[in-house]
Amino acid sequence: MKRLVIVSNRVPVPKEGLRPGGLAVVLHDLLALQGGMWFGWNGTTSVDAETTPPQIQHAGGVEYATIGLTPAEHKHYYTGFSNSTLWPLMHSLPEFIHFERRELSTYWSVNERFCENLLPLLRDDDTIWIHDYHLLPLAAQLRRKGVNMPIGFFLHTPFPAPDMLAIAPDGGTFLRDMLCADLLGFQTSDDTANFIFAAQRTAGARLVAPDTLSFEGHTVRVGSFAVEIDPDAFARTAAEAVEAPELKQLRSSLAGRKLIFGVDRMDPTKGLCDRLAGYDRLLESYPIWQRNVTFLQIAAESRVDVPSYRALRQELEGMIGKLNAQRGQADWTPLRFLTRGSARRVVAGYMRQAQIGYITPLRDGMNLVAKEYVAAQDPDDPGVLILSRMAGAARQLEAALLVNPLDHDDLADALNRALGMPKAERRERWQACRTHLEGCTALGWGQAFLRTLEATVAR
Ligand code: F6P
Repeated sequence: MKRLVIVSNRVPVPKEGLRPGGLAVVLHDLLALQGGMWFGWNGTTSVDAETTPPQIQHAGGVEYATIGLTPAEHKHYYTGFSNSTLWPLMHSLPEFIHFERRELSTYWSVNERFCENLLPLLRDDDTIWIHDYHLLPLAAQLRRKGVNMPIGFFLHTPFPAPDMLAIAPDGGTFLRDMLCADLLGFQTSDDTANFIFAAQRTAGARLVAPDTLSFEGHTVRVGSFAVEIDPDAFARTAAEAVEAPELKQLRSSLAGRKLIFGVDRMDPTKGLCDRLAGYDRLLESYPIWQRNVTFLQIAAESRVDVPSYRALRQELEGMIGKLNAQRGQADWTPLRFLTRGSARRVVAGYMRQAQIGYITPLRDGMNLVAKEYVAAQDPDDPGVLILSRMAGAARQLEAALLVNPLDHDDLADALNRALGMPKAERRERWQACRTHLEGCTALGWGQAFLRTLEATVAR
């Protein structure tokens, strides 16, 4: 079997006794199954990072090759171009885009450095799988250095419509660089269609089959591969967590009130301010829920050096204080907002406890929290998922209450409807959502991508 080489911006090297969560586990498991190496940034900065060779570690049958970033690279490549320009651009949120030309040049040069450091570690029988928006130029850079092994690329974020791409500095170059891979994977068919359209219009690629583009004599396959979770395992974790001390404490503090629950990174794409405003509107428009409901939102701090993330934190702090001060009562705090991350097991328990999963990103590639909320429910007495139409997961979880994340009345109406929804309707909606998760596994997502890559290069 070919060796798998995964390349991503951040590499979560497992530490003694600690296992990373979510997608990191899936990629680790894929590597452990197939044998392989994970290459990328180790999460640290140091002034001599540019001249330090990759550090090689082994854990759980996987080889990890990691490099550091210099403080300037971190500022311009990670905080700057990747997360201040590309991230909001990919999410079609121009109001959060900040662009500095010198950050773009550092973005290219860090990708070059990834390429230079990776090259000596590659073997002829490797299959290379590059991940996400930090590394758009990498496939092209590897090809220019003569790498001719199969290269797949998967974008975890949405792919914007071509007119949004027009505001990307050098958008055409990014498209041409991506077209050097053999397989390009996206989360949804809309993202795939956006890419196909942009590649033809902006990069001059030709569509030679519904899923194949031809560009400068090279053909590249494109397709959607929705990221999945392991619903059965997550359901077990959630059911077990219900008896954990953290859950007992939560239940006793709720004193019989219904629980609305959300969990996200603190990120401008997650729609947190509008989400709070929607909850505030519920309490204003439907006063019957005052004192009868508690909203618990976990928003773990993330990318704290990015100015729009700092501004978000400030705005949220103002909103949280105002909402609790204006709507709260001596013995009732309507909103509990936590910025510390919680253990995955405990989060699964919160999901099972919550009558409502309130997940309203402004835009999201997929949103695995929505799938996890569905998996965590008690089949006999499930909660209701309120989900933004703008999340990739809404393509699959159509039986959720789908909302416009910017429309506070829509959010309030959905919350009111969910809080009062009869059990029969809750079960019917939950069953329809659960059916979409049936038979899917996170590992299956990765294997489907790799199978398609293998078939593509074999044609
Ligand atoms: O959703 C994109 C993503 O890169 C995820 O893969 C990752 O878990 C998350 O953002 C956190 O990103 P960062 O590495 O910037 O902390």
